[in-house]
Amino acid sequence: MIQKQKGCNDIYGREAKIWKYVESVIDATMEKYNYTYIRTPLFEATELFHRGIGEGTDIVSKETYDFVDRGGRNITLRPEGTAGVVRSYIENKMYGDPNQPVKVYYNGTMYRYERPQSGRDRELTQFGMEVLGSDDPLTDAEVISLAVNIYKMLGLKEIKVNINSLGDKESRDNYREALVNYFRPHINELCEDCQVRLEKNPLRILDCKVDCDNKILKAAPKTLDYLNEASRDRFEKVQDYLDIMGIKYEINPNIVRGLDYYNHTVFEVEAKVEGFGSNNVLGGGGRYNGLCSQLGGPETPCIGFASGLGRIVMALELEKVKLPIIDEIDLFLMYVNEDEKKYAAYLAQELRLAGFIVDTEYTGRGLKAQFKQADRLKAKFTCVLNSEDLNNNEVKVKNNKTKEEEIISLDALIYYLDEKLNTMEDDDCCCDDDCECEDGCHCGDDCHCVDDCHCGDDCHCHDK
Ligand code: HAM
Repeated sequence: MIQKQKGCNDIYGREAKIWKYVESVIDATMEKYNYTYIRTPLFEATELFHRGIGEGTDIVSKETYDFVDRGGRNITLRPEGTAGVVRSYIENKMYGDPNQPVKVYYNGTMYRYERPQSGRDRELTQFGMEVLGSDDPLTDAEVISLAVNIYKMLGLKEIKVNINSLGDKESRDNYREALVNYFRPHINELCEDCQVRLEKNPLRILDCKVDCDNKILKAAPKTLDYLNEASRDRFEKVQDYLDIMGIKYEINPNIVRGLDYYNHTVFEVEAKVEGFGSNNVLGGGGRYNGLCSQLGGPETPCIGFASGLGRIVMALELEKVKLPIIDEIDLFLMYVNEDEKKYAAYLAQELRLAGFIVDTEYTGRGLKAQFKQADRLKAKFTCVLNSEDLNNNEVKVKNNKTKEEEIISLDALIYYLDEKLNTMEDDDCCCDDDCECEDGCHCGDDCHCVDDCHCGDDCHCHDK
């Protein structure tokens, strides 16, 4: 039997519903921050990633899926979204649009040839956002707040934001020199790769996966001690804006990020939930003011963030966040003979067009087994179509919870179901949470619900 490749996943059933829900919260939150969706190709010229992410990074040196296409071009499956977005910004001359900064977001598959383990896949789905064309520290704070708000809207509570600054070019050059001076006497205590990194790219020693527990790394100089005054002021402004927005964070001088394009603000969001894996972060990002010009475009200050969807779903499961996943149907239509089956086909079509979630029998089950199937599908209502009722222009509708049955005229069926389902919805808040909002508001948003219900459902709150 042919099996899926290592580090790839099939996502289906209830898990797929969770993924779709997470994506819907991402879309809704991005809309509030006025980001527009961007879709760039899954493969690009290899050079884009080598120049953009950096030759010395693990991603480029060990993890890319490279191939030569039939036309002899060197192609790479994208390992991340930023380089492609910047390429697109330049190629489509988005920098010429008076509407700056350009604020875009994406959600798509990326490929990294990593050693597969929990939270670390070879085919991964990332959502991310990029702000191109502004150096305002407010954009740094907003990108961090957007990341945090998406996690919050999803219901994650156990998150921690770590921020750091790598500073401008002068600060980075000073820091680089300090690192080389510090590591040179310890060169033989570093792994083979880090020995090469020492001269080429000493910053990369700090995120080495082999040497990560080495105490020499832990005692290495910190970026913040090498920031010049302008970089320090800038970093303080970012913190001011975060404070104003009420975003909690910690300054963590160990964060350097694993990609070469960063300067100034860098940040990572951790999931502080047991079982998540201490080496995994929920998401990370930072400012990359030099990338656009490095890729042949104009000098353009940029900042962005990305997060793996698989890791978000994992955190939601570990935190046991209750999600408003619809795994019920409104109505299951049952029948015995061919005439009734034809009527089921007709009725299903009409009711689905009217907006109801309707299913019926497709495998030739007897009536008893059809009732069991209705229960498996968690049908709120069932309907056994029989020729006699249909001749009288009626159907028998059963409330599957209360087991009450009513004979309803076919003409009134849509109104009947509509009313009954609406009262059912009003009765139970679908989040099962400690939602205290009288009106059963499920949005977690401009909601006056004390406990911040996060189900993202239809909001019935008067205040919205
Ligand atoms: P990154 O830290 O390489 O940054 O990846 C961002 C996120 O993608 C990680 O925090 C993690 O959630 C997810 N991720 C990365 N690798 C894997 C993997 N092998 N399996 C599962 N999830 C993974 C970037 O990609 C930058 N482009 C972020 C950025 C955007 N910086 C500025 N703009």
